[in-house]
Amino acid sequence: MAAGRTVAVLAALGVLSVCSASGSGPLAEVEAGGEAEWAEPWDGAVFRPPSALGAVGVAHSPGSQQPGREGAVDLPVLLWWSPGLFPHFPGDSERIECARGACVASRDRRVRGDSRTRALLFYGTDFRASAAPLPRLAHQSWALLHEESPLNNFLLSHAPGIRLFNLTATFSRHSDYPLPLQWLPGTAYLRRAALPLQERAEWRRRGYAPLLYLQSHCDVPADRDRYVRELMRYIPVDSYGKCLHNRELPTPRLQDTATATTEDPELLAFLSRYKFHLALENAICDDYMTEKLWRPMHLGAVPVYRGSPSVRDWMPNNHSIILINDFESPQKLAEFIDFLDKNDEEYMKYLAYKQPGGITNQFLLDSLRHREWGVNDPLLPNYLNGFECFVCDHELARLDAEKAHAASPGDTPVPKPHIAQPSHMNCPVPTPGFGNVEEIPENDRHITAFLRLGRLDSTSALLLGAILNSEITNKTQK
Ligand SMILES: *[C@@H]1O[C@H](CO)[C@@H](O)[C@H](O)[C@H]1NC(C)=O
Ligand SMILES: *[C@@H]1O[C@H](CO)[C@@H](O)[C@H](O)[C@H]1NC(C)=O
Ligand SMILES: *[C@@H]1O[C@H](CO)[C@@H](O)[C@H](O)[C@H]1NC(C)=O
Repeated sequence: MAAGRTVAVLAALGVLSVCSASGSGPLAEVEAGGEAEWAEPWDGAVFRPPSALGAVGVAHSPGSQQPGREGAVDLPVLLWWSPGLFPHFPGDSERIECARGACVASRDRRVRGDSRTRALLFYGTDFRASAAPLPRLAHQSWALLHEESPLNNFLLSHAPGIRLFNLTATFSRHSDYPLPLQWLPGTAYLRRAALPLQERAEWRRRGYAPLLYLQSHCDVPADRDRYVRELMRYIPVDSYGKCLHNRELPTPRLQDTATATTEDPELLAFLSRYKFHLALENAICDDYMTEKLWRPMHLGAVPVYRGSPSVRDWMPNNHSIILINDFESPQKLAEFIDFLDKNDEEYMKYLAYKQPGGITNQFLLDSLRHREWGVNDPLLPNYLNGFECFVCDHELARLDAEKAHAASPGDTPVPKPHIAQPSHMNCPVPTPGFGNVEEIPENDRHITAFLRLGRLDSTSALLLGAILNSEITNKTQK
């Protein structure tokens, strides 16, 4: 087959998956450039797996000295195509025990063409269509782990992008292995007591604003700064990050993001002095909620939130956050915050969920209870291991179904294909954070790039089709 053509097509697609619209130039450079620009500096590395990574999930079968060797001959192999995420140490392959049975997890790309290799696991952020393993082999599932927003890879929030995959673990509740609460350790985290109001009133008297903003990644698809800048015209906001910066953190240690991470106790204590925290996600997607939302609640501040349109479904009760989109203008929002700032009784209603029995949202409680992975919990597996086992179980079931069909084709139908859906990564086209598109200055190149990437142009659509077709071709020739 015309391998050269596919590569050219996909190289172009790689270009389109970052922000350059130009079809020429050395691909690697374009991709690297895009990558650096799009990382979240304040948040540290693009991917921060729960700290349990590496500590859990190595399920040796008792007595076997070399796990993965003996008895592994017929086990399905799961190949981590993004090797950086391989959740085992040391070595390149590991026998894993899951609910339905065992599989071998590997990051050795040489096993890719093997008939036992039943699934390829990809990490969304570094999935590059240009580097996709083609042709797709019909017997292999593609599994996608992408807990991040489309900031890191817009391609996947378009239907033809997400549909390349069979199984997903995304922030969406609709994904096969859902991670919407990936940043919420549990109910105790929410219940933590707030700083007494008198103490906060004291900080207000000393000149603190009612609202805190702490953001150092300023050009994002959600275009949050444009809104916050407008809000600042109507109510004081103390902004300590790089974006709309107007105040210094109190000590040099806190000012240094290398020493004071966002989980630093001293920093957290400082942040808890504020009654309201602006909490705007970097992109707007259904069920995409991050520490920006949960941390203020942990600290007893009221999040002033813009992010997941379905955020209410996950709140501890129906009166615990302020949604920016409920207000017709930044001015109206400012008036409401000012009202709460001056009315302790009304303000305290927003913290009622911290009282015993205050978490009334059964959906939230059930979701936390039923999830099998933990957040920074050394006693529970992390979701990398969890997803790996989910894929293993899925493949074992698929093998059984195939065998059943082969044994009696008349009675048992061919197993149906399982294909990821756009709802697994539902991020509507980005819109300006404030005002409308016509008001966005031409030279605001970040935002205009995002607005453009929100739409899948016909060329990209065509190119994504090429990846799909690579499998169909392989199937027909088989
Ligand atoms: C919020 O919850 C309370 C108590 O469950 C209920 O009475 C009230 O109608 C709810 N309000 C809204 C806006 O859903
Ligand atoms: C995996 O998804 C592709 C579409 O991306 C589909 O053609 C294929 O049949 C699916 N495979 C399985 C095993 O479900
Ligand atoms: C289809 O897959 C087989 C098995 O890996 C491979 O040998 C063959 O070259 C593929 N077909 C095409 C058209 O690439």
